[in-house]
Parts: sequence; C-alpha cells; structure tokens
Amino acid sequence: VKPPVPACTLVNGEARDSIAIADRGLAYGDGVFETLLVDAGEPVWWDAHLRRLQRGCDALGIDCPDAALLREEAARVAQDGARGVLKITVTRGVSLRGYAAPASPQPTRIVSLSPWAGVAAATVAQGIEVRWCRTTLALQPRLAGIKHLNRLEQVLARREWEDPAIAEGLLCDTEGRVVSATAANLFLVCDGRLATPVLTRCGVEGVCREWILQQAAVAVHDVARDAVLEADELFLCSSLRGILPVARLDGLRHAPGPMTRRLQHALWQAVPALRPDPGTTA
Ligand SMILES: Cc1ncc(COP(=O)(O)O)c(C=O)c1O
Repeated sequence: VKPPVPACTLVNGEARDSIAIADRGLAYGDGVFETLLVDAGEPVWWDAHLRRLQRGCDALGIDCPDAALLREEAARVAQDGARGVLKITVTRGVSLRGYAAPASPQPTRIVSLSPWAGVAAATVAQGIEVRWCRTTLALQPRLAGIKHLNRLEQVLARREWEDPAIAEGLLCDTEGRVVSATAANLFLVCDGRLATPVLTRCGVEGVCREWILQQAAVAVHDVARDAVLEADELFLCSSLRGILPVARLDGLRHAPGPMTRRLQHALWQAVPALRPDPGTTA
C-alpha cells in the first residue's frame, strides 16, 4: 500500500517525495521538526515555531536553515491557500555509516503540506477522553524541550490504545512525574491556580504552551499523578488542536471549567485559525 504523499513536498527546495537512505534523519533520528497550522496559506505562530526549530538545531549542533528561505518554501507548498499542516524537518544530512558526523554536513530540509480538517466544535466544547499510558518518558536534559526526530516513546505510547473514543494518552517520566500527553502539553487547575509540568528533563516545549505561559500566571513545577487526579480542571494544548478540555480520564469525569473556557476564548481571539469550525465533525 502506497502511503499518501503530502500534497506538496520540497526537499532542499526541490519538489520531491524521497530522501537519500544515508540521511542521518532516517538512520538515527538526527534532526528536528516542526508541525504548524496553516490557514488561508498563512503559517500560524511562525516565529515561535522557528525559534524552537533554531533551539533544536543549536542543541544538536546542526546549521539551522535560513528563516527567510524556509518562509519562502512554506509559501510555495501552501500557495493554494488551503488549510493544512505544514511540516518542516531538518536533518544533519547524509553521512557514511556510523554515529560520527561528517566535518561539514549539509543539512537536509523537508517542507511539506498535508490536509488538516481541524477539531470538531463539539470536541472543543465538551472535551476529550484521555487515558494514562504505561510507556514512560526517559530523562534526558540535553534533549528536553526540543522537537527532535526521535519520537519512539510517543509511537509506543500511541500503540497502547485503539479505541477511537480516546483522543490522547498522558505520559509520566521514568520517575513517575506527569509530563504531557503524546502530542500535546498538559495544564491543570488546582485551587484556582493554573499549573503545567516542568520540561527540563524530558518533554517538548509546545508553542501553544508557550503562548499560554505568556497570557496567564502559570506555576511551572513538577506534577504528581495525584495532582492530576485531584485537579479541578485539566486541558491539553497543541498548535494544531488549540486548547482541548479533558472531560474524562480513565473513565473519571471532569467538567471543562471556567479557566479552560477563558483561555480557549482568549486563544480564538488571538488566533482565529484555531477557532473550531461548526461544520467539522472529525
Ligand atoms: C510530544 C509533544 N509534546 C507537545 C506537543 C505540543 O506542541 P505544539 O504546541 O508546538 O504543537 C507536541 C505536538 O505535536 C508533541 O508531539
């Protein structure tokens, strides 16, 4: 079965849908990526995504492609003005076999656009069902926060359930602290105070999480499983799905609360592209 090829993909600026088998992104996950919402041809939160891409490249010692070049390539793949998901991948490039990197690697950049239906208005209003995952996140401060290509923990976690009613899984680190969902960050409200887990040991510093940190007073600290179970409100966030209230966790009901609602409305005000489309059912 041939997997669907994104509508348009540029590899180092050329329309292609394959890369060299010696690419270190394939061999070792040696690279970083970004997934951005594109609305009416415009990437949402472009600067914040580019900052994280740059941070990731710096952490791995990869030359980050020029921002203006990426912007131009993003405009090329999104030129039909459709809504979609823009994916930017930067790898260290090709090398001989073995972990040692070449002295002057030529990074590979891949820019593609895939269709995106958005999140159903009912889901955004009523909230989603989530579960706890058995898979845990390893502690690695050198990779914490960045969106590197090694996503096997998320892949294993996502293999833990098939029930389409469950939208996300919550992950703890190997020492039992709650970190995030598989593809979203986590916020909780306890006694009227908003909090989110520290991401200095593992996890991805989400762009939507960063936006929320700029809007509200948020305590960033270690979060125990009990704190999640006892929270008055729980929500997940990501740059594609925006703010999603958690309505059920392992069967236990939570009501989407006032803090979640306030932040959802502030987000739709600031980023209209994330406002749910009442016509969307997926
Ligand atoms: C592991 C992980 N954490 C958090 C996020 C949320 O990040 P963002 O807000 O940048 O989409 C994602 C997004 O896909 C993710 O894969």
